[in-house]
Amino acid sequence: MDYKKLVAEKIQENINVNLQLDFIEGLIEIPPKPEMGDYAFPCFQLAKNLKKSPNIIAQELKDKIEKNYFEKIENQGAYLNFFVDKNTFTRDVLTKVLEQGDKYGSSSIGKGKNIVVEYSSPNIAKPFHVGHLFSTAIGNSLYKMMSFEGYNCTRINHLGDWGTQFGKLIAAYKRWCDEEKLHKDPIKELLRIYVKFHEEAEKDPALNEEGRMHFKRLEDGCKEEVELWKKFKELSLREFKKIYALLGVDFDSYAGESFYTDKMDAVIEEIDKKGLLVESNGAKVVMLDKYNIPPCIVKKSDGATIYATRDLTAAIYRKKTYDFSKCIYVVGMDQSLHFKQVFTTLKLMGEDWADSCVHVGFGLVRFADKKLSTRKGDVIFLEDLLNKSVQRTLEIIDEKNPKLENKLQVARKVGIGAVIFTYLKNNRERDIVFDWNEMLSFEGETGPYVQYSYARGKSILRKSENINGDVDYSKLNSKEEFELAKVLNNFKSSILNAIDKLEPFMVTRYVIDVAKAFNKFYNAHSIINAGDETIKIARLQLVKATCQVLKNGLNLLGIDVVEKM
Ligand code: ARG
Repeated sequence: MDYKKLVAEKIQENINVNLQLDFIEGLIEIPPKPEMGDYAFPCFQLAKNLKKSPNIIAQELKDKIEKNYFEKIENQGAYLNFFVDKNTFTRDVLTKVLEQGDKYGSSSIGKGKNIVVEYSSPNIAKPFHVGHLFSTAIGNSLYKMMSFEGYNCTRINHLGDWGTQFGKLIAAYKRWCDEEKLHKDPIKELLRIYVKFHEEAEKDPALNEEGRMHFKRLEDGCKEEVELWKKFKELSLREFKKIYALLGVDFDSYAGESFYTDKMDAVIEEIDKKGLLVESNGAKVVMLDKYNIPPCIVKKSDGATIYATRDLTAAIYRKKTYDFSKCIYVVGMDQSLHFKQVFTTLKLMGEDWADSCVHVGFGLVRFADKKLSTRKGDVIFLEDLLNKSVQRTLEIIDEKNPKLENKLQVARKVGIGAVIFTYLKNNRERDIVFDWNEMLSFEGETGPYVQYSYARGKSILRKSENINGDVDYSKLNSKEEFELAKVLNNFKSSILNAIDKLEPFMVTRYVIDVAKAFNKFYNAHSIINAGDETIKIARLQLVKATCQVLKNGLNLLGIDVVEKM
């Protein structure tokens, strides 16, 4: 039973204006306090339609609507408050969760819609840093949520594998690279020589010329440069894929910037044909001053294409290839202007789908007060961060539960889960300050807390594996049991909200709410020792359903559950 829909239907049946069901459903609120009911309908919109006071409408609706399925319906000012029949509600929710299992919360709302989700997109020969994990965690969970709701999603890793920096890197390689180190720890060595290049070039600017020359040769397809570039790319991908395996993240396409090198001319020509290309200090640009933003540079004065040229080309290619109804770019907010320029240029080109390109931005990641930068080399490698989190989790397990089986495996899931959880816990535009103690705490709003709640539930279920019998859901009649059932019922709406706002934290918050409601229930009531067999069986169903929802929810965030911890 979808109670929200039921409330909407009852209202629709009892008003004399023609309002869409979805619209009415959208107005329904979940009251903050149980005394205010389980669903509340504000009558302000109807007041406009009916030209009557909202309080009177609430009063009239209260008298008209039949109560079946509801314990009572009350009007409070402009609000109509619905109190569900607790027994029916709890039974309905739990049977639904247990019947649908891993599919609970899913739907086919997105059927027939193609979505491109671009995320992660690290730069080859440079470290995969903590900002890239922000993109990876958000993109991966948006992908999971949208697929769960029936959208047809394509995951793209728009690798930064093209640009003048590769000319510099080739020059640096030829002078200073240590081949052995390169194979052992490729990205560290490539970073070392890249940093050295910048230091040396400050003393000897001729080096920059050398870099430009190598990039030109790379663009022209000269064998030596192309081979070196390929080598850098392969070595880098090898490292990135290790991280993706650790995180359980995948892609459908690794078409990065270099993929578009042979497709850009046609796009530039198109822009020119449409009369949008203007000369500015030798460069070719699209003027955007009408929109109060700086011009979008398409070709630099030396004739080279840039980042934006590749993004314009990529968007057009993706539209042709995937026919998306939305193309999502999960990239830091520091690139907001870039995306505005690219999307606006597409619009000026007459691409009517330009508005379906969305930049999903996010904030900065900090540790104490070190800012991240690749130039100077004081960057935090993601692998180190993840390893450290796993290591620390292992220490905590050793202290709390030294006899646990598969300790390392558990520490991996919990330690990495804790990091991902931290990224997805708040509004994505908010900066993150990493704090180890907070992140790994088993209490408070953390990944380990939610995973621990799941493991605790599973341990109860393991202890009572042989307990079977008819379930009498009416035995679940305490406040805590009803509140937990209510939270379990909200899963789907939290996912749909997260998709609507492109904000995974709405599901993160939701799993925290489930864990909190579960712990309240657990602390207030005995389960195995309930005394009465029928109460025990009913409570076990509630535990089982809770575990299922926690698992489904964490899964959508890209976090694995552990059966024991
Ligand atoms: N490689 C870029 C970086 O690390 C991110 C790419 C973002 N995606 C895009 N389509 N421009 O900053």
